[in-house]
Amino acid sequence: MSLVFDSTTYEIKTLVHEGVTVTYRAFTHIPYVEKPVLPDWQCLSIYVPEAYYKDEASINGYNLATAPIFFPNAVGGYKPGKECEPEIWTDDNTGATHANSLFHALAHGYVVVSAGLRGRGMKDENDKFIGCAPAVICDLKAVIRYLRFNKGRVPGNVERIISNGTSAGGAISSLLGSTGNHPDYEPYLKAMGAANATDNIFAASCYCPITNLDHADMAYEWEFGRCGTKTPERETISKELQAMFPTYVNGLKLKDELGNALTLNANGTGAFADYVKEQVIMTCEKELTKGTDLSSYDWIVVKDGKVVDIDLTKYIFYRTRMKEAPAFDNIAMGTPENELFGNENTFYRHFTKFACEHSEVNGELAEEMQIKMMNPMNYIDDASATKAQYFRIRHGAIDRDTSLAIPVILATKLKNQGIDADFALPWGVPHAGDYDLDELFEWVDKVCAEP
Ligand code: DHB
Repeated sequence: MSLVFDSTTYEIKTLVHEGVTVTYRAFTHIPYVEKPVLPDWQCLSIYVPEAYYKDEASINGYNLATAPIFFPNAVGGYKPGKECEPEIWTDDNTGATHANSLFHALAHGYVVVSAGLRGRGMKDENDKFIGCAPAVICDLKAVIRYLRFNKGRVPGNVERIISNGTSAGGAISSLLGSTGNHPDYEPYLKAMGAANATDNIFAASCYCPITNLDHADMAYEWEFGRCGTKTPERETISKELQAMFPTYVNGLKLKDELGNALTLNANGTGAFADYVKEQVIMTCEKELTKGTDLSSYDWIVVKDGKVVDIDLTKYIFYRTRMKEAPAFDNIAMGTPENELFGNENTFYRHFTKFACEHSEVNGELAEEMQIKMMNPMNYIDDASATKAQYFRIRHGAIDRDTSLAIPVILATKLKNQGIDADFALPWGVPHAGDYDLDELFEWVDKVCAEP
């Protein structure tokens, strides 16, 4: 099977949303590896503004050769993701129509690539699980290799690929941005028959990344432990995890913008906690500047028209715990993450020593390499990994699917390595993504314009 892109087979389609007409060329369902595990899934689609095929036409200054390639992944909950299409739908409750990010990206002048990706729960005809880690990241990398292998043949600029995802999709977007060309993934890519090309990307957009899974339980208890648990047994677990977090954070040797060490005391207070708090203060201040009345939030301290402080504990109680301890590697199994770290024959496995030692179901521990390959933190300071030049990380200020500490640690680690990481905790936003596409595209245009 050839991985050479065929530009002669396509359909032309038109969609209209709120007065905006998007006519695009759709190259669909193209296999992106030579030896797929699931031939009907490991396919990609490419969508291109049709205007680019008319002489001299450009949108926002981009043309067929220069347009950035927007690469949203459809991964949620670490489940498989299907190739998506530009789409418009009507909200049954409100009657309002919405367009997805693919539509908006085409309207803005980007080339859009969407791919089918393996995920947890998938089985082959022999009843073997075939979507466990690291399948999803290997599929993403194979897509990038396909695009770069076809440089000059595929529409768009393959040196301006911007990955985008939400939640588990945000996590794999951050992983794609952190692990470019790293040898750890090579055997898998070879086995799949991925194209012979590099797989680093230009930029990664990550909404509420559910990442750093092997440390996310400690982070969750560091933050939400104060909200209590349902049983005395889980309370003990929570306390033990909380106590482990400062050692982890201190080992990262993170620094703030001024070079101050972001450490934690044994009781969980200290410079890192203050830094997290500072990010929340900035969010509140931005909202106040917009003219929003914040007086009903008893955890926000406003003085002389400025947000001068927040009560971190009150703020955490205001958001409250969503997941029981441990939040990700459940001692009774059953989480999406336990399933992600399964293998061919085992549905659920542990991925932290802690949960394995406390396992109520005598669960197995996943292999070290499988766990390593799913965590961007392991690659950010590894010179063998080509990092994206730009990251944009957003975690809603009322999101509690993972601890605030997780995206803060990721963004800080990137910044400490000299990588441009644009980070914010948008006010009032829960666990969600793609809610600020205008700002996202503004950022894409800005970073793409840099030499
Ligand atoms: C997602 C949400 C979670 O809370 C989680 O643990 C994993 C994935 C998601 O929405 O993708």
